Amino acid sequence: MNAGIQESSNLTGGQKLAVKYYTVAVVLFVAQILFGLLSGLKYLQPDFLYEVLDFNVTRMVHINAMIVWMLFGFMGAIYWLVEEESETELVGLKLGNLAFWVLTSAVTVVVLVYLFVQVGPAEMSTIWFIGEGREYIEAPRWADIGIVICLLVFMYNIAATFMKGKWSGISGVLVLDLVALAGLYVAGMYYTPNISMDQYWWWWVVHLWVEATWEVLVGCIMAWGLIKTLGANRKIVTTWLYIEVALMLGAGILGLGHHYFWIGTPEYWLGIGGFFSALEPVPLVAMVVHAVYDSGVHGSKNSNHPALAWLIAHAFGNFFGGGVWGFMHTLPQINLYTHGTQWTTSHGHLAFFGAYATINIAMFYIALQRWRGNVYMSAGLPGNGWKWKWALSLLCTGVVGMTMALLVSGYEQAFVERALGGSTWAAYFEAQRGTWYVQGMYWRQIFGYVTAAGLVLLIWDLLTIGLREKRSMVVPTDHVVVTA
Ligand code: HEM
Ligand code: HEM
Ligand SMILES: [Fe+2]
Repeated sequence: MNAGIQESSNLTGGQKLAVKYYTVAVVLFVAQILFGLLSGLKYLQPDFLYEVLDFNVTRMVHINAMIVWMLFGFMGAIYWLVEEESETELVGLKLGNLAFWVLTSAVTVVVLVYLFVQVGPAEMSTIWFIGEGREYIEAPRWADIGIVICLLVFMYNIAATFMKGKWSGISGVLVLDLVALAGLYVAGMYYTPNISMDQYWWWWVVHLWVEATWEVLVGCIMAWGLIKTLGANRKIVTTWLYIEVALMLGAGILGLGHHYFWIGTPEYWLGIGGFFSALEPVPLVAMVVHAVYDSGVHGSKNSNHPALAWLIAHAFGNFFGGGVWGFMHTLPQINLYTHGTQWTTSHGHLAFFGAYATINIAMFYIALQRWRGNVYMSAGLPGNGWKWKWALSLLCTGVVGMTMALLVSGYEQAFVERALGGSTWAAYFEAQRGTWYVQGMYWRQIFGYVTAAGLVLLIWDLLTIGLREKRSMVVPTDHVVVTA
Protein backbone atom coordinates (compact mmCIF):
# COMPACT_ATOMS: atom_id res chain seq x y z
CA MET A 1 0.00 0.00 0.00
CA ASN A 2 1.23 3.48 -0.85
CA ALA A 3 0.39 5.98 1.86
CA GLY A 4 -1.43 9.04 0.59
CA ILE A 5 -2.70 7.46 -2.62
CA GLN A 6 -6.33 6.48 -2.92
CA GLU A 7 -6.59 3.15 -4.65
CA SER A 8 -9.43 0.68 -4.70
CA SER A 9 -6.89 -2.15 -4.51
CA ASN A 10 -6.32 -1.05 -0.91
CA LEU A 11 -9.77 -2.34 -0.07
CA THR A 12 -11.25 -5.81 0.21
CA GLY A 13 -14.52 -6.66 -1.57
CA GLY A 14 -16.64 -5.95 1.49
CA GLN A 15 -14.84 -2.67 2.07
CA LYS A 16 -15.47 -1.50 -1.49
CA LEU A 17 -19.13 -2.19 -0.95
CA ALA A 18 -18.96 -0.30 2.35
CA VAL A 19 -17.55 2.77 0.60
CA LYS A 20 -20.54 2.76 -1.77
CA TYR A 21 -22.91 2.75 1.17
CA TYR A 22 -20.97 5.59 2.78
CA THR A 23 -21.15 7.68 -0.39
CA VAL A 24 -24.93 7.45 -0.54
CA ALA A 25 -25.05 8.14 3.20
CA VAL A 26 -23.18 11.42 2.77
CA VAL A 27 -25.41 12.51 -0.14
CA LEU A 28 -28.50 11.87 1.97
CA PHE A 29 -26.93 13.68 4.94
CA VAL A 30 -26.64 16.74 2.70
CA ALA A 31 -30.29 16.34 1.69
CA GLN A 32 -31.25 16.06 5.36
CA ILE A 33 -29.57 19.34 6.22
CA LEU A 34 -30.97 21.21 3.20
CA PHE A 35 -34.50 20.12 4.01
CA GLY A 36 -33.93 20.88 7.69
CA LEU A 37 -32.99 24.44 6.79
CA LEU A 38 -36.07 24.75 4.55
CA SER A 39 -38.30 23.42 7.34
CA GLY A 40 -36.79 25.84 9.84
CA LEU A 41 -37.29 28.79 7.48
CA LYS A 42 -40.99 28.07 7.32
CA TYR A 43 -41.26 28.77 11.03
CA LEU A 44 -39.90 32.26 10.35
CA GLN A 45 -41.69 32.87 7.05
CA PRO A 46 -44.72 30.62 6.83
CA ASP A 47 -45.51 31.52 3.21
CA PHE A 48 -42.07 30.54 1.96
CA LEU A 49 -42.55 28.00 -0.89
CA TYR A 50 -46.19 27.69 0.15
CA GLU A 51 -48.03 25.14 -1.99
CA VAL A 52 -44.79 24.27 -3.77
CA LEU A 53 -42.94 22.50 -1.00
CA ASP A 54 -45.05 22.69 2.12
CA PHE A 55 -43.76 22.16 5.65
CA ASN A 56 -45.11 18.62 5.84
CA VAL A 57 -43.11 17.67 2.74
CA THR A 58 -39.83 19.34 3.71
CA ARG A 59 -40.06 17.93 7.24
CA MET A 60 -40.80 14.46 5.92
CA VAL A 61 -37.80 14.55 3.60
CA HIS A 62 -35.65 15.96 6.42
CA ILE A 63 -36.29 13.15 8.85
CA ASN A 64 -36.63 10.27 6.39
CA ALA A 65 -33.35 11.22 4.73
CA MET A 66 -31.85 11.11 8.21
CA ILE A 67 -33.10 7.60 8.99
CA VAL A 68 -32.02 6.29 5.60
CA TRP A 69 -28.56 7.87 5.65
CA MET A 70 -27.92 6.44 9.08
CA LEU A 71 -29.07 2.98 7.98
CA PHE A 72 -26.83 3.19 4.93
CA GLY A 73 -23.99 4.24 7.21
CA PHE A 74 -24.60 1.30 9.55
CA MET A 75 -24.76 -1.18 6.69
CA GLY A 76 -21.54 0.27 5.34
CA ALA A 77 -19.91 -0.01 8.76
CA ILE A 78 -20.85 -3.66 9.06
CA TYR A 79 -19.67 -4.50 5.56
CA TRP A 80 -16.49 -2.68 6.50
CA LEU A 81 -15.72 -4.70 9.58
CA VAL A 82 -17.17 -8.12 8.74
CA GLU A 83 -14.19 -9.50 6.86
CA GLU A 84 -11.58 -8.43 9.39
CA GLU A 85 -13.71 -9.60 12.26
CA SER A 86 -14.48 -13.00 10.72
CA GLU A 87 -11.02 -13.35 9.17
CA THR A 88 -12.47 -14.49 5.88
CA GLU A 89 -13.85 -13.08 2.62
CA LEU A 90 -17.40 -11.85 2.37
CA VAL A 91 -19.85 -14.50 1.21
CA GLY A 92 -22.12 -13.25 -1.58
CA LEU A 93 -20.36 -10.08 -2.65
CA LYS A 94 -22.24 -9.97 -5.96
CA LEU A 95 -25.56 -10.35 -4.23
CA GLY A 96 -24.53 -7.60 -1.81
CA ASN A 97 -23.74 -5.28 -4.70
CA LEU A 98 -27.02 -6.05 -6.38
CA ALA A 99 -28.91 -5.33 -3.15
CA PHE A 100 -27.03 -2.05 -2.83
CA TRP A 101 -28.14 -0.87 -6.25
CA VAL A 102 -31.72 -2.03 -5.73
CA LEU A 103 -31.90 -0.21 -2.40
CA THR A 104 -30.32 2.97 -3.74
CA SER A 105 -32.64 3.07 -6.76
CA ALA A 106 -35.66 2.46 -4.55
CA VAL A 107 -34.64 5.31 -2.23
CA THR A 108 -34.18 7.63 -5.22
CA VAL A 109 -37.62 6.83 -6.63
CA VAL A 110 -39.25 7.22 -3.22
CA VAL A 111 -37.66 10.64 -2.66
CA LEU A 112 -38.71 11.83 -6.14
CA VAL A 113 -42.28 10.74 -5.41
CA TYR A 114 -42.21 12.57 -2.04
CA LEU A 115 -41.07 15.73 -3.80
CA PHE A 116 -43.16 15.69 -6.96
CA VAL A 117 -46.30 13.73 -6.09
CA GLN A 118 -46.34 14.59 -2.36
CA VAL A 119 -49.87 13.47 -1.45
CA GLY A 120 -52.54 11.12 -2.69
CA PRO A 121 -56.20 10.31 -1.99
CA ALA A 122 -57.09 8.63 1.33
CA GLU A 123 -57.02 5.17 -0.20
CA MET A 124 -54.83 2.09 -0.02
CA SER A 125 -53.19 3.03 -3.33
CA THR A 126 -51.51 5.97 -1.58
CA ILE A 127 -50.07 3.66 1.05
CA TRP A 128 -48.76 1.39 -1.69
CA PHE A 129 -47.29 3.99 -4.00
CA ILE A 130 -46.77 7.38 -2.33
CA GLY A 131 -46.20 7.17 1.42
CA GLU A 132 -47.63 5.58 4.54
CA GLY A 133 -47.99 8.70 6.66
CA ARG A 134 -45.81 7.17 9.36
CA GLU A 135 -43.33 9.70 10.68
CA TYR A 136 -39.67 8.64 10.11
CA ILE A 137 -40.59 5.55 8.07
CA GLU A 138 -42.75 6.95 5.29
CA ALA A 139 -41.62 4.58 2.53
CA PRO A 140 -44.61 3.31 0.52
CA ARG A 141 -45.50 -0.36 0.78
CA TRP A 142 -43.78 -1.44 -2.45
CA ALA A 143 -40.52 0.04 -1.17
CA ASP A 144 -41.06 -1.55 2.26
CA ILE A 145 -41.08 -4.94 0.64
CA GLY A 146 -37.94 -4.11 -1.32
CA ILE A 147 -36.25 -2.85 1.85
CA VAL A 148 -37.10 -6.05 3.72
CA ILE A 149 -35.66 -8.17 0.88
CA CYS A 150 -32.46 -6.09 0.79
CA LEU A 151 -32.15 -6.38 4.57
CA LEU A 152 -32.54 -10.14 4.35
CA VAL A 153 -29.76 -10.30 1.76
CA PHE A 154 -27.64 -8.14 4.01
CA MET A 155 -28.27 -10.31 7.05
CA TYR A 156 -27.57 -13.46 5.11
CA ASN A 157 -24.27 -12.01 3.87
CA ILE A 158 -23.14 -11.04 7.33
CA ALA A 159 -24.27 -14.16 9.20
CA ALA A 160 -22.95 -16.52 6.51
CA THR A 161 -19.58 -14.75 6.49
CA PHE A 162 -19.20 -15.18 10.24
CA MET A 163 -20.28 -18.79 9.92
CA LYS A 164 -17.68 -19.44 7.26
CA GLY A 165 -14.94 -17.63 9.19
CA LYS A 166 -14.86 -17.21 12.92
CA TRP A 167 -17.26 -15.81 15.48
CA SER A 168 -16.36 -13.35 18.22
CA GLY A 169 -18.25 -11.75 21.10
CA ILE A 170 -18.83 -8.67 18.99
CA SER A 171 -20.08 -10.56 15.94
CA GLY A 172 -22.45 -12.74 17.98
CA VAL A 173 -24.14 -9.69 19.48
CA LEU A 174 -24.14 -7.98 16.10
CA VAL A 175 -25.91 -10.75 14.20
CA LEU A 176 -28.58 -11.28 16.86
CA ASP A 177 -29.15 -7.55 16.89
CA LEU A 178 -29.57 -7.40 13.11
CA VAL A 179 -32.29 -10.03 13.29
CA ALA A 180 -34.17 -7.93 15.85
CA LEU A 181 -33.59 -4.70 13.95
CA ALA A 182 -34.91 -6.07 10.66
CA GLY A 183 -37.79 -7.90 12.34
CA LEU A 184 -38.98 -4.69 13.99
CA TYR A 185 -39.22 -2.94 10.64
CA VAL A 186 -42.05 -5.30 9.79
CA ALA A 187 -44.04 -4.02 12.80
CA GLY A 188 -44.09 -0.61 11.08
CA MET A 189 -45.88 -2.06 8.07
CA TYR A 190 -48.95 -3.09 10.03
CA TYR A 191 -51.92 -1.09 8.87
CA THR A 192 -55.12 -0.48 10.77
CA PRO A 193 -57.55 2.44 10.61
CA ASN A 194 -57.52 2.56 14.43
CA ILE A 195 -54.98 5.33 15.07
CA SER A 196 -54.13 4.19 18.62
CA MET A 197 -53.34 0.69 17.43
CA ASP A 198 -51.44 2.00 14.47
CA GLN A 199 -49.29 4.22 16.68
CA TYR A 200 -48.83 1.38 19.15
CA TRP A 201 -47.01 -0.70 16.50
CA TRP A 202 -45.31 2.22 14.81
CA TRP A 203 -43.50 3.00 18.09
CA TRP A 204 -42.12 -0.52 18.11
CA VAL A 205 -40.01 0.50 15.16
CA VAL A 206 -39.12 4.03 16.17
CA HIS A 207 -38.47 3.51 19.86
CA LEU A 208 -37.14 -0.05 19.76
CA TRP A 209 -34.79 1.00 17.01
CA VAL A 210 -33.24 4.10 18.51
CA GLU A 211 -33.37 3.08 22.16
CA ALA A 212 -32.61 -0.64 21.81
CA THR A 213 -31.41 -2.20 18.56
CA TRP A 214 -29.53 0.82 17.15
CA GLU A 215 -27.88 1.34 20.54
CA VAL A 216 -26.68 -2.26 20.56
CA LEU A 217 -25.49 -1.91 16.99
CA VAL A 218 -23.45 1.21 17.73
CA GLY A 219 -22.16 -0.56 20.85
CA CYS A 220 -20.69 -3.22 18.53
CA ILE A 221 -19.28 -0.62 16.15
CA MET A 222 -17.83 1.33 19.07
CA ALA A 223 -16.20 -1.79 20.51
CA TRP A 224 -14.65 -2.59 17.15
CA GLY A 225 -13.65 1.05 16.56
CA LEU A 226 -11.86 1.26 19.90
CA ILE A 227 -9.92 -1.89 19.10
CA LYS A 228 -8.95 -0.48 15.70
CA THR A 229 -8.09 3.10 16.60
CA LEU A 230 -6.56 2.47 20.00
CA GLY A 231 -5.71 -1.19 20.03
CA ALA A 232 -8.02 -1.44 23.04
CA ASN A 233 -8.05 -4.84 24.68
CA ARG A 234 -10.67 -7.09 23.12
CA LYS A 235 -11.57 -8.84 26.38
CA ILE A 236 -12.26 -5.55 28.11
CA VAL A 237 -14.38 -4.03 25.34
CA THR A 238 -16.34 -7.24 24.86
CA THR A 239 -17.14 -7.43 28.57
CA TRP A 240 -18.34 -3.82 28.46
CA LEU A 241 -20.43 -4.65 25.42
CA TYR A 242 -22.24 -7.49 27.21
CA ILE A 243 -22.97 -5.29 30.24
CA GLU A 244 -24.25 -2.46 28.09
CA VAL A 245 -26.44 -4.71 26.00
CA ALA A 246 -27.99 -6.32 29.07
CA LEU A 247 -28.76 -2.93 30.64
CA MET A 248 -29.93 -1.44 27.36
CA LEU A 249 -32.42 -4.16 26.58
CA GLY A 250 -33.44 -4.39 30.25
CA ALA A 251 -34.58 -0.78 30.39
CA GLY A 252 -35.20 0.00 26.71
CA ILE A 253 -37.80 -2.64 25.91
CA LEU A 254 -40.33 -1.64 28.55
CA GLY A 255 -39.15 1.97 28.30
CA LEU A 256 -41.26 1.88 25.14
CA GLY A 257 -44.10 2.78 27.48
CA HIS A 258 -43.03 6.45 27.55
CA HIS A 259 -44.66 6.78 24.13
CA TYR A 260 -47.88 5.13 25.31
CA PHE A 261 -48.84 7.76 27.88
CA TRP A 262 -51.35 9.70 25.79
CA ILE A 263 -52.24 7.68 22.72
CA GLY A 264 -55.21 5.75 24.07
CA THR A 265 -53.38 2.75 25.53
CA PRO A 266 -54.21 1.39 29.04
CA GLU A 267 -53.21 3.46 32.03
CA TYR A 268 -50.66 0.98 33.41
CA TRP A 269 -48.23 2.28 30.79
CA LEU A 270 -47.82 5.47 32.82
CA GLY A 271 -46.11 3.49 35.58
CA ILE A 272 -44.26 1.00 33.42
CA GLY A 273 -43.06 3.58 30.88
CA GLY A 274 -42.10 6.11 33.53
CA PHE A 275 -40.14 3.62 35.61
CA PHE A 276 -38.24 1.70 32.94
CA SER A 277 -37.47 4.63 30.69
CA ALA A 278 -36.08 6.51 33.69
CA LEU A 279 -33.52 3.67 33.94
CA GLU A 280 -32.47 4.04 30.31
CA PRO A 281 -29.68 6.55 31.02
CA VAL A 282 -27.81 3.90 33.09
CA PRO A 283 -26.28 2.03 30.13
CA LEU A 284 -25.52 5.35 28.48
CA VAL A 285 -23.46 6.32 31.51
CA ALA A 286 -21.66 2.97 31.21
CA MET A 287 -20.87 3.74 27.60
CA VAL A 288 -19.29 7.13 28.35
CA VAL A 289 -17.24 5.69 31.18
CA HIS A 290 -16.12 2.89 28.90
CA ALA A 291 -15.07 5.21 26.06
CA VAL A 292 -13.25 7.64 28.32
CA TYR A 293 -11.57 4.80 30.14
CA ASP A 294 -10.37 3.16 26.96
CA SER A 295 -9.18 6.35 25.35
CA GLY A 296 -7.50 7.76 28.43
CA VAL A 297 -5.93 5.53 30.97
CA HIS A 298 -4.09 3.00 28.87
CA GLY A 299 -1.51 5.32 27.42
CA SER A 300 -2.40 3.82 24.06
CA LYS A 301 -1.21 5.17 20.75
CA ASN A 302 -4.02 6.44 18.60
CA SER A 303 -3.97 5.61 14.91
CA ASN A 304 -6.76 7.89 13.74
CA HIS A 305 -7.36 11.17 15.54
CA PRO A 306 -10.49 12.34 13.71
CA ALA A 307 -12.14 8.93 14.12
CA LEU A 308 -11.36 8.75 17.84
CA ALA A 309 -12.55 12.33 18.35
CA TRP A 310 -15.88 11.43 16.70
CA LEU A 311 -16.13 8.23 18.75
CA ILE A 312 -15.76 10.29 21.90
CA ALA A 313 -18.30 12.80 20.56
CA HIS A 314 -20.59 9.81 20.11
CA ALA A 315 -20.17 8.64 23.70
CA PHE A 316 -21.00 12.08 25.08
CA GLY A 317 -23.66 12.84 22.48
CA ASN A 318 -25.43 9.58 23.23
CA PHE A 319 -25.28 10.25 26.95
CA PHE A 320 -26.51 13.85 26.80
CA GLY A 321 -28.89 13.59 23.84
CA GLY A 322 -30.45 10.28 24.77
CA GLY A 323 -29.79 9.97 28.48
CA VAL A 324 -30.04 13.49 29.87
CA TRP A 325 -32.36 15.12 27.32
CA GLY A 326 -34.48 11.97 27.22
CA PHE A 327 -34.68 11.69 30.99
CA MET A 328 -35.81 15.31 31.30
CA HIS A 329 -39.24 14.60 29.83
CA THR A 330 -39.71 10.89 30.36
CA LEU A 331 -41.71 10.88 33.61
CA PRO A 332 -45.43 11.15 32.86
CA GLN A 333 -45.82 14.00 35.36
CA ILE A 334 -43.44 16.08 33.23
CA ASN A 335 -44.33 14.68 29.84
CA LEU A 336 -47.92 15.85 30.41
CA TYR A 337 -46.58 19.38 29.92
CA THR A 338 -43.81 18.83 27.41
CA HIS A 339 -45.31 16.21 25.10
CA GLY A 340 -45.02 17.18 21.45
CA THR A 341 -43.54 20.62 22.11
CA GLN A 342 -40.22 21.93 20.83
CA TRP A 343 -38.82 20.30 23.95
CA THR A 344 -39.26 16.98 22.13
CA THR A 345 -37.58 18.40 19.05
CA SER A 346 -34.68 19.61 21.18
CA HIS A 347 -34.17 16.05 22.43
CA GLY A 348 -34.67 14.56 18.96
CA HIS A 349 -31.91 16.70 17.45
CA LEU A 350 -29.32 16.20 20.16
CA ALA A 351 -30.00 12.47 20.42
CA PHE A 352 -29.97 11.57 16.74
CA PHE A 353 -26.95 13.70 16.03
CA GLY A 354 -25.11 12.84 19.23
CA ALA A 355 -25.72 9.12 19.14
CA TYR A 356 -25.84 8.23 15.48
CA ALA A 357 -24.46 10.91 13.17
CA THR A 358 -21.21 11.02 15.15
CA ILE A 359 -20.38 7.33 15.06
CA ASN A 360 -21.11 7.13 11.35
CA ILE A 361 -18.69 9.97 10.73
CA ALA A 362 -16.06 8.16 12.82
CA MET A 363 -16.43 5.12 10.59
CA PHE A 364 -16.08 7.29 7.46
CA TYR A 365 -12.67 8.38 8.72
CA ILE A 366 -11.63 4.81 9.51
CA ALA A 367 -12.55 3.80 5.95
CA LEU A 368 -10.72 6.71 4.33
CA GLN A 369 -7.54 5.90 6.20
CA ARG A 370 -7.39 2.43 4.68
CA TRP A 371 -8.61 3.53 1.24
CA ARG A 372 -5.76 6.05 1.10
CA GLY A 373 -3.14 3.41 1.85
CA ASN A 374 -3.21 3.12 5.66
CA VAL A 375 -2.15 6.73 5.74
CA TYR A 376 -1.02 8.69 8.78
CA MET A 377 -3.91 10.37 10.64
CA SER A 378 -2.49 11.05 14.08
CA ALA A 379 -1.22 14.29 15.64
CA GLY A 380 0.55 16.84 13.45
CA LEU A 381 -1.43 16.63 10.23
CA PRO A 382 -0.78 19.44 7.72
CA GLY A 383 -2.34 22.68 9.01
CA ASN A 384 -2.65 20.87 12.32
CA GLY A 385 -5.70 19.07 10.95
CA TRP A 386 -7.72 22.31 11.01
CA LYS A 387 -10.39 21.03 8.63
CA TRP A 388 -11.51 18.05 10.65
CA LYS A 389 -11.22 19.99 13.89
CA TRP A 390 -13.31 22.89 12.59
CA ALA A 391 -15.82 20.54 11.00
CA LEU A 392 -16.23 18.77 14.33
CA SER A 393 -16.52 22.05 16.24
CA LEU A 394 -18.99 23.65 13.83
CA LEU A 395 -21.21 20.59 13.61
CA CYS A 396 -21.26 20.12 17.37
CA THR A 397 -21.73 23.83 18.11
CA GLY A 398 -24.47 24.01 15.50
CA VAL A 399 -26.43 21.09 16.86
CA VAL A 400 -25.93 22.01 20.52
CA GLY A 401 -26.98 25.58 19.64
CA MET A 402 -30.14 24.34 17.94
CA THR A 403 -30.83 22.08 20.90
CA MET A 404 -30.64 24.98 23.35
CA ALA A 405 -32.73 27.29 21.16
CA LEU A 406 -35.41 24.62 20.82
CA LEU A 407 -35.36 23.99 24.55
CA VAL A 408 -36.13 27.66 25.20
CA SER A 409 -39.05 27.55 22.77
CA GLY A 410 -40.23 24.27 24.23
CA TYR A 411 -40.05 25.58 27.77
CA GLU A 412 -42.20 28.53 26.78
CA GLN A 413 -44.76 26.21 25.18
CA ALA A 414 -44.87 23.94 28.23
CA PHE A 415 -45.38 26.94 30.48
CA VAL A 416 -47.66 29.24 28.51
CA GLU A 417 -49.65 26.73 26.50
CA ARG A 418 -49.87 23.83 28.94
CA ALA A 419 -49.34 25.03 32.51
CA LEU A 420 -50.98 28.47 32.29
CA GLY A 421 -53.32 28.04 29.35
CA GLY A 422 -54.50 24.50 30.09
CA SER A 423 -53.76 23.17 26.59
CA THR A 424 -56.56 24.98 24.83
CA TRP A 425 -56.42 25.86 21.16
CA ALA A 426 -56.19 29.55 22.04
CA ALA A 427 -53.31 28.83 24.44
CA TYR A 428 -51.51 26.98 21.68
CA PHE A 429 -51.53 30.09 19.49
CA GLU A 430 -50.65 32.35 22.36
CA ALA A 431 -47.54 30.24 22.99
CA GLN A 432 -46.61 30.27 19.31
CA ARG A 433 -46.59 34.08 19.35
CA GLY A 434 -44.59 34.39 22.57
CA THR A 435 -41.28 36.26 22.32
CA TRP A 436 -39.26 33.44 23.83
CA TYR A 437 -40.76 30.99 21.40
CA VAL A 438 -40.18 33.16 18.35
CA GLN A 439 -36.63 34.00 19.32
CA GLY A 440 -35.87 30.33 19.85
CA MET A 441 -36.98 29.70 16.30
CA TYR A 442 -34.63 32.39 14.99
CA TRP A 443 -31.70 31.00 16.94
CA ARG A 444 -32.46 27.51 15.72
CA GLN A 445 -32.14 28.77 12.17
CA ILE A 446 -28.88 30.60 12.86
CA PHE A 447 -27.36 27.51 14.45
CA GLY A 448 -28.76 25.50 11.56
CA TYR A 449 -26.50 27.51 9.23
CA VAL A 450 -23.56 26.82 11.55
CA THR A 451 -24.36 23.09 11.30
CA ALA A 452 -24.55 23.33 7.51
CA ALA A 453 -21.17 25.10 7.40
CA GLY A 454 -19.72 22.27 9.49
CA LEU A 455 -21.08 19.72 7.05
CA VAL A 456 -19.53 21.50 4.06
CA LEU A 457 -16.17 21.51 5.82
CA LEU A 458 -16.57 17.88 6.83
CA ILE A 459 -17.14 16.84 3.23
CA TRP A 460 -14.16 18.87 2.08
CA ASP A 461 -12.05 17.14 4.70
CA LEU A 462 -13.37 13.67 3.82
CA LEU A 463 -12.45 14.32 0.20
CA THR A 464 -8.92 15.47 0.97
CA ILE A 465 -7.59 14.12 4.27
CA GLY A 466 -4.46 12.00 3.93
CA LEU A 467 -3.98 12.67 0.22
CA ARG A 468 -0.37 13.59 -0.52
CA GLU A 469 0.58 12.52 3.01
CA LYS A 470 3.66 10.33 2.89
CA ARG A 471 3.73 8.96 6.42
CA SER A 472 2.08 5.64 7.23
CA MET A 473 -0.44 5.19 10.02
CA VAL A 474 0.65 4.75 13.60
CA VAL A 475 0.00 1.21 14.70
CA PRO A 476 -2.29 1.37 17.70
CA THR A 477 -0.98 -0.28 20.85
CA ASP A 478 -2.45 -0.96 24.20
CA HIS A 479 -0.22 -1.53 27.17
CA VAL A 480 -2.78 -3.25 29.34
CA VAL A 481 -2.17 -6.91 29.88
CA VAL A 482 -5.18 -8.95 30.85
CA THR A 483 -4.78 -12.39 32.23
CA ALA A 484 -7.64 -14.83 32.51
C1 HEM B 1 -30.06 7.94 21.15
C2 HEM B 1 -31.20 7.57 21.59
C3 HEM B 1 -32.46 8.34 21.35
C4 HEM B 1 -32.91 8.93 20.22
C5 HEM B 1 -32.24 8.99 18.85
C6 HEM B 1 -34.19 9.54 20.54
C7 HEM B 1 -34.97 10.25 19.64
C8 HEM B 1 -36.25 10.71 19.91
C9 HEM B 1 -37.09 11.40 18.97
C10 HEM B 1 -36.72 11.77 17.55
C11 HEM B 1 -38.27 11.67 19.58
C12 HEM B 1 -39.47 12.37 18.96
C13 HEM B 1 -40.40 11.37 18.41
C14 HEM B 1 -41.60 12.00 17.77
O1 HEM B 1 -41.50 12.39 16.61
O2 HEM B 1 -42.64 12.12 18.42
C15 HEM B 1 -38.18 11.13 20.92
C16 HEM B 1 -39.18 11.21 21.86
C17 HEM B 1 -38.99 10.88 23.18
N1 HEM B 1 -37.84 10.39 23.77
FE1 HEM B 1 -36.17 9.86 22.83
N2 HEM B 1 -34.47 9.31 21.85
C18 HEM B 1 -33.44 8.59 22.39
C19 HEM B 1 -33.32 8.16 23.69
C20 HEM B 1 -34.21 8.45 24.71
C21 HEM B 1 -34.05 8.06 26.10
C22 HEM B 1 -32.87 7.28 26.66
C23 HEM B 1 -35.14 8.54 26.76
C24 HEM B 1 -35.50 8.45 28.22
C25 HEM B 1 -34.66 8.40 29.19
C26 HEM B 1 -36.00 9.20 25.77
C27 HEM B 1 -37.22 9.77 26.06
C28 HEM B 1 -38.09 10.24 25.10
C29 HEM B 1 -39.46 10.63 25.38
C30 HEM B 1 -40.15 10.62 26.74
C31 HEM B 1 -40.03 11.03 24.17
C32 HEM B 1 -41.46 11.52 23.93
C33 HEM B 1 -41.52 13.02 23.87
C34 HEM B 1 -42.93 13.52 23.75
O3 HEM B 1 -43.76 13.12 24.54
O4 HEM B 1 -43.21 14.35 22.88
N3 HEM B 1 -35.39 9.14 24.55
N4 HEM B 1 -36.93 10.57 21.10
C1 HEM C 1 -29.45 22.58 9.37
C2 HEM C 1 -29.78 22.15 10.50
C3 HEM C 1 -31.18 21.69 10.84
C4 HEM C 1 -32.36 22.40 10.86
C5 HEM C 1 -32.55 23.86 10.51
C6 HEM C 1 -33.39 21.49 11.28
C7 HEM C 1 -34.74 21.82 11.37
C8 HEM C 1 -35.74 20.96 11.71
C9 HEM C 1 -37.15 21.29 11.74
C10 HEM C 1 -37.73 22.65 11.41
C11 HEM C 1 -37.83 20.19 12.12
C12 HEM C 1 -39.33 20.06 12.31
C13 HEM C 1 -39.64 20.31 13.75
C14 HEM C 1 -41.11 20.44 14.03
O1 HEM C 1 -41.91 19.60 13.60
O2 HEM C 1 -41.47 21.43 14.68
C15 HEM C 1 -36.86 19.16 12.37
C16 HEM C 1 -37.16 17.90 12.82
C17 HEM C 1 -36.21 16.96 13.12
N1 HEM C 1 -34.85 17.04 12.86
FE1 HEM C 1 -33.85 18.63 12.18
N2 HEM C 1 -32.84 20.27 11.55
C18 HEM C 1 -31.49 20.35 11.28
C19 HEM C 1 -30.56 19.35 11.44
C20 HEM C 1 -30.82 18.13 11.99
C21 HEM C 1 -29.82 17.16 12.36
C22 HEM C 1 -28.30 17.34 12.18
C23 HEM C 1 -30.48 16.11 12.91
C24 HEM C 1 -29.95 14.83 13.47
C25 HEM C 1 -28.92 14.21 13.01
C26 HEM C 1 -31.91 16.41 12.87
C27 HEM C 1 -32.92 15.60 13.34
C28 HEM C 1 -34.26 15.91 13.36
C29 HEM C 1 -35.28 15.07 13.97
C30 HEM C 1 -35.05 13.73 14.66
C31 HEM C 1 -36.50 15.73 13.80
C32 HEM C 1 -37.87 15.26 14.31
C33 HEM C 1 -37.96 15.80 15.71
C34 HEM C 1 -39.34 15.82 16.32
O3 HEM C 1 -40.30 15.34 15.74
O4 HEM C 1 -39.46 16.36 17.43
N3 HEM C 1 -32.07 17.64 12.29
N4 HEM C 1 -35.59 19.65 12.10
FE1 LIG D 1 -38.51 6.29 23.27
